[in-house]
This record gives sequence, C-alpha cells and structure tokens, in this order.
Amino acid sequence: MSANPEVATTHPPSAAALSEEVAEPRAAQQADNIVHSMEVRGVHKTFGDSQVLSGINLDFVDDRITTILGPSGTGKSVLIKHLVGLLEPDKGEVLIFGKDIWNVSENERYELRKRFGVLFQDGALFGSMNLFDNVAFPLRKHTDMKEKDIREFVMGRLTEVGLERSVAKLPNEISGGMRKRAGFARALILEPDIVLFDEPDSGLDPVRTSLLNDLILEMHERHKGTYLVVTHDIRTAHKVSDYVGVIWRGKVVHYSEAAGAFGSEDPFVRQFLSGDSAGPLGMD
Ligand SMILES: Nc1ncnc2c1ncn2[C@@H]1O[C@H](COP(=O)(O)OP(=O)(O)O)[C@@H](O)[C@H]1O
Ligand SMILES: [Mg+2]
Repeated sequence: MSANPEVATTHPPSAAALSEEVAEPRAAQQADNIVHSMEVRGVHKTFGDSQVLSGINLDFVDDRITTILGPSGTGKSVLIKHLVGLLEPDKGEVLIFGKDIWNVSENERYELRKRFGVLFQDGALFGSMNLFDNVAFPLRKHTDMKEKDIREFVMGRLTEVGLERSVAKLPNEISGGMRKRAGFARALILEPDIVLFDEPDSGLDPVRTSLLNDLILEMHERHKGTYLVVTHDIRTAHKVSDYVGVIWRGKVVHYSEAAGAFGSEDPFVRQFLSGDSAGPLGMD
C-alpha cells in the first residue's frame, strides 16, 4: 500500500454516529485538523420525488473495515456512488482525503477516483476479456508499466484470490463466486487506499459468502486500507466489521464499533440485526 503522508493512519474512534442531532462531537473533531480518507457530511439526494439520502453523516475510520447495513432499496449503492464521485449530492459534501470531491477540478476528481478500488455488485468485469486482461486493464490504462511487470502484478493478485489457474477464462465461463474474486483482484490492482464493496455477498450461497468474507479479511490484513462493505447480510457484518453503520430511510440510525451495534438496545437496530419480522421495521 502506498503510504500517503497526508493521511493519519488509525485514530481512536470518534463518536462518529453523527446523525444531525449529535453533530457536536464532529465539530470537536474538526478542530483536530486530522485528514481522513472519507467523510460524508449532510448528504441529501433525491431522484424525482423520492428522497433517497436525507442527510447522511459518516466519518469512516482509516485503515479499518466499516460495514454499512440497510434493507434493500435504502440507498446503499447510491451512497457508494457518492463516495467515489459518480453521483453529486443535492446538498452536503463528500470529502476524500480532506477534499470536497465536487469542489475540485475534473482532473483532481479523476485523480481522487484512482485512489479507490470498487467491487461492484456483479463484479462488473468486461465480458469479452479473460480474467488476466480484466485485472490488467487498470494498469494498462492508468500506468506506463511494462507488460512483464504487469504480468507479475496481475498474477500476484489473481493468485491471492485463488484464480491463478483460471486466468484465461472469460467471465461467463466461471462461477459467480469466482467473478467476485476476480472483481476483487481488479479492485486491488492499483493499490488503492480505499476499497468499496457493494454487496459482495449478493447471489452467493452461505459457504461462498463465508469464503469471500475470509478473503476480505485476509486481503485487508495484507494490503491495509480503508474498507467499506455495504451489505444487507448480517452474517457478513458479523464476520468482517470493525465498525457498523445502519442506514434506514436515508439516515444513519446507528454507528459504532461492531460490538456496540450487535449489542444495541435500539429497537430498529435490534430488529434489523437479528433479522426479526416483529418490530418497528415494516414492509414499506
Ligand atoms: N440513478 C438513479 N435514478 C433514479 N433513481 C435511482 C437511481 N439510483 C438509485 N435510485 C433509486 O434510489 C433508491 C435506492 O437505491 P439503491 O441505492 O440502489 O438501494 P440499495 O440500498 O438496495 O443499494 C431506489 O429506490 C432506486 O430506485
Ligand atoms: Mg445496492
């Protein structure tokens, strides 16, 4: 992982629950002038007449794995797209390494995006390219590395995710779990400071989900970085999280260290994290 001198590595967890009602601790934290990899401040987003994000505040803890949980359709993917600068907030801001991603030049936004690795829900591989070329693509596009070095790098990543024998396969010739692992290898290829996972567990059976979660932990241990895992799968959250946030109806309703989330007294958080049908969370 390329160290960035600007970025403090780990820091003690702030009281970063940070729904608007508890904005005080954040104000105190701002005074420290610590630059974090990702901060979300009061982000609102409406599509047509449906308000999807209604003032999201999140301070991610650097070099840790944060899981954001929320029911389907709550805006988890929309949040990821805001983090990586693919969607612009109607109101509020997203700071990446202290820079408002929509208040910098196009060029700077592009440079900031290169510090992210993103594993989209379906792996988002190019269907006409084999796994080797899929993983090599960001290196060929964004660096002037020689093919020999590219080969070494790509094979290194593909070996780490257990795909060294499938490099010549096309995405539609391999299983969903393998596609996710290939997407993961590609997400890591530029040695990103931040890795975002959009429902890495979707479409996988429990065993493959568990194996992928092991891989997330292993790769985080090896490469470090600030990881955000968005999911609606409580088992995934249990397994990989250092911190857990829960979003519902466009707001962060809980944010704490993992143990605090799973021990929460809040009726909504309890219902959601236990997967109960009885409780405040209804079908709407
Ligand atoms: N580009 C878009 N245009 C219009 N509506 C969108 C767009 N992206 C997402 N939405 C809507 O925003 C809501 C949240 O979507 P999403 O973030 O995908 O939910 P999830 O939590 O399941 O990832 C959904 O109602 C979806 O239809
Ligand atoms: Mg989604």
